[in-house]
Amino acid sequence: MKLISAQEVEKHNKKEDCWVIIHGKVYDLTAFLPEHPGGQNVILKQAGKDATAAFDQIHPRDIIDQYLSPEVCLGSVDPATVVQTVKVETEEEKLRRKVNEKKPSLIEMLNAYDFEAVASQVLTAEAWAYYSSGSDDEITLRENQNAFHRIWLRPRVMIDVTNVDMSTKLLGYDSSFPVYISATALGKLGHPEGEVVLTRAANTQKIVQMLPTLASCSLGEMTNARGKDQIQFFQLYVNRDRAVTERVVRSAEEKGCKALFITVDAPQLGKREKDMRVKFIADPPDIQDEKSVRRNLGAAYAISAFIDTALNWNDLEWFKSITSMPILLKGIQTAEDAVLAARHGCAGIVVSNHGGRQLDFGRSGIEILPEVVHALKNAGYEGKLEIYVDGGVRRGSDIFKAIALGAKAVGIGRPSLYAMSAYGQPGVERLLQLLKDELEMTMRLAGAKSLADIRPEMVDIRNLHDHVFTPKNYLMSNVYDRLTPRKAKL
Ligand code: HEM
Ligand SMILES: Cc1cc2nc3c(=O)[nH]c(=O)nc-3n(C[C@H](O)[C@H](O)[C@H](O)COP(=O)(O)O)c2cc1C
Repeated sequence: MKLISAQEVEKHNKKEDCWVIIHGKVYDLTAFLPEHPGGQNVILKQAGKDATAAFDQIHPRDIIDQYLSPEVCLGSVDPATVVQTVKVETEEEKLRRKVNEKKPSLIEMLNAYDFEAVASQVLTAEAWAYYSSGSDDEITLRENQNAFHRIWLRPRVMIDVTNVDMSTKLLGYDSSFPVYISATALGKLGHPEGEVVLTRAANTQKIVQMLPTLASCSLGEMTNARGKDQIQFFQLYVNRDRAVTERVVRSAEEKGCKALFITVDAPQLGKREKDMRVKFIADPPDIQDEKSVRRNLGAAYAISAFIDTALNWNDLEWFKSITSMPILLKGIQTAEDAVLAARHGCAGIVVSNHGGRQLDFGRSGIEILPEVVHALKNAGYEGKLEIYVDGGVRRGSDIFKAIALGAKAVGIGRPSLYAMSAYGQPGVERLLQLLKDELEMTMRLAGAKSLADIRPEMVDIRNLHDHVFTPKNYLMSNVYDRLTPRKAKL
């Protein structure tokens, strides 16, 4: 491999000519810059330099080989020319270290919101913005939790509830309770070890983990971290290059993933303004750069090859031909599409709006669930495919409500990210234990000894579709980071 001096790399330090060093190799990322789903600036900041530390904080080592053509690798950096620099702690890092030392003990965490509050303090501004943000006005993000508060319970009494059994099977695999960890990208933003922390916690708590395509850990790292008998599903973003997609799917199956969840609600990434704002603060934009100001933002987002805008129902046959994993669609939001998924032979669906990160004013999963269950029953698919729901699940009673309305299980996204960021594996384990305890209590108080006892008549959903009234959720409003418009700095 060609040897290139660090001084030569330094010369290629601009948008039109951008080289970086990653793990001793020199890459020309000029053409990739506008396609980088994390934006150009994060890479431009590293232009001409050794980007290994910045890259490793976010991405698995194999992401370049997986997605970019081999020509982007120009050679190896000549080690004799590299000047070692000493890393000094920045003011922000110092502050975060102090917050970490002073955070409450894990035992003081009593609910999912407690983890969110601590995570908001220990995470970097960028990580907090990435994890917490929703799209546009974040109406759907908040509605995901509000909708649960419009469902009231109709408990039964005088039932022997000494023993409550919360166990279930997801696609035939054992789960200690009806919750799984949903796929969330970029785990290393929250914890230096990334998604494997979630793997280990899911293992001790005996629940399923759904692995994200865009994880910070490589697929191999996540599957190697799997415990004996532990079950992992795989979430797929369909890459525009179908050869890449096929490789990813085959590799997930070879590495032992048991189901393929194709994300169908993200042909373009939602407009997440908190996330965009924080990047402007970290890297003030060049106000002279009129060309990029005028550029159509939608196009800039859509061009990423990472997610295929052309994905459609006809593609399902092809997916079936390349994998024997059961195929489920993640991001169904109407009865019509649920029935289409069933007609196309899907093994299940996730009723989800992507945690309020995609289409704002999309309804909450829990609101959509009854219409989906009803339509599938009417179309003759009752019990033929598994229905999962995610978005806004923060309490055991939320899980109870979802089961009552026909879900097989619920997915959690942010809660596990926040617990991992604040307290690592023990944090995620405690979060799951708290949710389990809350579900068990709700079941006992509602007179349900097993999940099969949680019946639709145990919930009152008369207000569910009414978007006018919601009780105030103080925990959420205390921790919710309000959107602020950009004003002139006086
Ligand atoms: C110098 C090298 C790189 C750096 C410093 C870097 C940094 C980042 C950062 C900070 C983000 C998160 C942005 C956010 O907060 O929204 C991100 C996102 C992303 N990057 Fe990179 N990146 C680099 C190279 C690459 C390469 C070579 C690839 C693929 C070939 C890649 C693929 C992605 C993807 C797919 C995302 C989006 C994940 C998502 O939003 O769900 N990056 N990157
Ligand atoms: C930070 C973050 C990253 C996510 N990344 C993905 C992803 O890569 N693929 C995907 O299908 N869903 C992704 N999701 C959506 C989750 O899988 C899930 O649908 C959602 O988080 C559930 O809502 P909740 O966060 O309120 O629990 C992400 C969600 C968050 C918060």
